Amino acid sequence: MAHITPSHAGFPRTAAVIPAAGRGVRLGPGIPKAMRPLGGVPMLVHAVHAMASSAAVSLVVVVAPPGDEEGLAKVRALLAEHPPASGAELAVVPGGATRQESVRLGLAALPDDVAVVLVHDAARPLVPAATVDAVVAAVAAGAPAVVPALPVTDTVKRVAAPAAVPGAPEPVVATPDRALLRAVQTPQGFDRATLAAAHARHAEDDATDCAGLVERLGLPVVLVPGHEEAFKVTRPLDLVLAEAVLARRRTDDAH
Ligand code: CTP
Ligand code: MG
Repeated sequence: MAHITPSHAGFPRTAAVIPAAGRGVRLGPGIPKAMRPLGGVPMLVHAVHAMASSAAVSLVVVVAPPGDEEGLAKVRALLAEHPPASGAELAVVPGGATRQESVRLGLAALPDDVAVVLVHDAARPLVPAATVDAVVAAVAAGAPAVVPALPVTDTVKRVAAPAAVPGAPEPVVATPDRALLRAVQTPQGFDRATLAAAHARHAEDDATDCAGLVERLGLPVVLVPGHEEAFKVTRPLDLVLAEAVLARRRTDDAH
């Protein structure tokens, strides 16, 4: 099968929306997660550069924590200080109370000529360029919704309901076959019209991933191989791992 290499020529205009409006409660107290430093630069800058590293991406929309104009101006200044090498256009808009709402606000800021959209968590700053390109290539090949994913390594148990009291023993009701489970990552890639329809139809939901909304429309979602380094920085230990990955990349680059 021919490998499809995305490029500006002849490829529908592609934009990346980066939800970065979360506080990062699980990471602990401090500044919003996307602004936490990683290798001396806010995580968000890494995420923006990762999206712009795909030749197909000509616009990156960052959805920043809602609040005052001053906060948005700070994010704009940060990105102006660290522009992506590709020269991709950047925009910053305020987000909402949930990830889904933040993504919807990012989509609303896209110009009409954008036909393909990547949605990428600011909290996945180290996704390799090859993973971004694989997602873009699968959308280019005709899939309306594409998700990078990895096999699950832990055995997963299902419980009847979350424990009423955190930490209380939870009865197990099932053990799904691990071979059929996948852990999903971002960027998730979409035909823009499909993603817009999914968000419009399920505006009241609070989905943790956009592809889930597309599934609820009854449309096909396909998985492509994700990457270990596209992990989400969620808890404090993830920051330690992210710093280690970055340090190893810098050592590798120096040789
Ligand atoms: N996000 C967002 N707007 C929100 C909530 C989340 O844009 N209202 C973004 C986060 O900034 C992050 C991505 O969605 O890049 C994935 O969410 P998650 O890892 O859960 O980040 P937070 O919601 O910030 O973390 P926590 O759930 O621990 O508070
Ligand atoms: Mg969250």
